[in-house]
Amino acid sequence: MMRNKPNVVVVGAQVGDEGKGRIVDYLAKQSNVVVRFQGGNNAGHTIWVNDKKTVLHLIPSGILYPDVINVIATGVVVDPFVLISEMDELRAQGVKVTPENLKVSGACHVITSIHKAIDVHEEAGRGKNKIGTTQRGIGPVNVDRVARRGIRLYDLNKPAKLQQLIPRDTYLSYFQKYELTKSYEQFIAELQEIGKTVAPFLTDTALLLDKACRKGGVMFEGAQAALLDIDHGSYPYVTSSHCVAGYAAVVSGVSPLYIDEIMGVVKGYTTRVGTGPFPTEITGDEGEKLRQKGAEFGATTGRPRKVGWIDLVALRYATRVHGLTSIAITKLDILSGIDELKVCTHYTINGEKVEEMPVDHMETIEAIPNYITLKGWKQDISKVTDVWELPNEVRDYVSLISQDLGVEVHLVGVGPDRNQTLSTIKPVEFDIDSLLIEAQKEIKLT
Ligand code: GDP
Ligand code: IMO
Ligand code: MG
Repeated sequence: MMRNKPNVVVVGAQVGDEGKGRIVDYLAKQSNVVVRFQGGNNAGHTIWVNDKKTVLHLIPSGILYPDVINVIATGVVVDPFVLISEMDELRAQGVKVTPENLKVSGACHVITSIHKAIDVHEEAGRGKNKIGTTQRGIGPVNVDRVARRGIRLYDLNKPAKLQQLIPRDTYLSYFQKYELTKSYEQFIAELQEIGKTVAPFLTDTALLLDKACRKGGVMFEGAQAALLDIDHGSYPYVTSSHCVAGYAAVVSGVSPLYIDEIMGVVKGYTTRVGTGPFPTEITGDEGEKLRQKGAEFGATTGRPRKVGWIDLVALRYATRVHGLTSIAITKLDILSGIDELKVCTHYTINGEKVEEMPVDHMETIEAIPNYITLKGWKQDISKVTDVWELPNEVRDYVSLISQDLGVEVHLVGVGPDRNQTLSTIKPVEFDIDSLLIEAQKEIKLT
């Protein structure tokens, strides 16, 4: 069956926080369904609409449009308490969140207080080698998931099964080791109680998405990014899920053939929060200035993000592992006023020229970045409403990235607000009446 609109996956092309949420929000206007498919509340997706800020952790970034159906698909790990409080916060802001416009897979794995305690404990134990996790229990819940002993959202409404999955003895052993505060009875009762609140939202999302994808207009919203992918990122400084675009189909339970386009979100520079290699990092005063100007503090944990120049080696890699068909570039307004912009074209590692990401990303800790330098722009571009009005230097910067990656740039961010998103693809508008008049004039003239 022909689709009347494409199904699109939107993913992070760097190390997270590229502005995926604001791009998904912008595109959601034309979508029927927006799907979060992996990660959990380690994500923080920020949307600004007319000076009003919304930060989403679990709920998809289509929620601000009341007619869009938002889906939390099976690959997302869900802390049900966070899910419910996020719904409450949104409703308090006047946003519609009902079982009609939010559908959650019953098969999502549940993050409990045990997973969070293990995350905190394990990070403390890593000492100098800590990953810098968000401490939301993401790693430990995925351990249980892969070990085939996890709790899924539909289990919360089955008391006997819940107690079988976490027997009293098991809980008590965690209780002592991780200094938990709640009794076993309280722990189980609270999970059952929250399960009742979540229950009306539970649906067979794979079935729903199969139907929706056949029709088209489904947008899959990635969390984290290529370099944080469990297998394809800078292991072990990664998250515990796949973040590459192909995973959208796998964990949503739909055919990969339903995906028509894959858009990568690229920040005009690079940031990283948590540990891990960062060859193009800008340290010292220059870095601090960019961090402050770009307000580079985590949307989930508030931690300062490390900042650096754009890295084409990493972007080439992300383009390949995601299979990008288009790009959105954000935060170009933050680069205004920087005299010279550096773009890393390749690394030197042990005296060798390296243009492709090494299989062991950790080798890039030793990498010396090689840059080309482009002239910056002085103008404030945050009020520009048409890409053709952007200074030539901005267009050169964007073109260089696009040409190197061999992928077209479709969207440009010149500020955080929804209306500060510029499309490079202008809809062709025909004024049929005036065309007819012009044609008649021409006929009369000849
Ligand atoms: P995500 O995790 O990829 O959704 O990104 P985050 O929301 O964590 O971080 C991106 C930050 O940059 C947020 O504070 C956004 O409001 C902000 N942002 C996104 N695009 C732009 C842009 O084009 N210009 C500016 N100035 N800020 C932006
Ligand atoms: P969004 O979707 C940036 C990072 C953490 C840490 C590593 C592992 O907002 O782009 P985890 O808690 O997942 O076990 O942490 O991954 N990380 C992110 N960094 N943006 C994110 O999400 C992130 N989610 C996880 O900082 O280094
Ligand atoms: Mg974020």
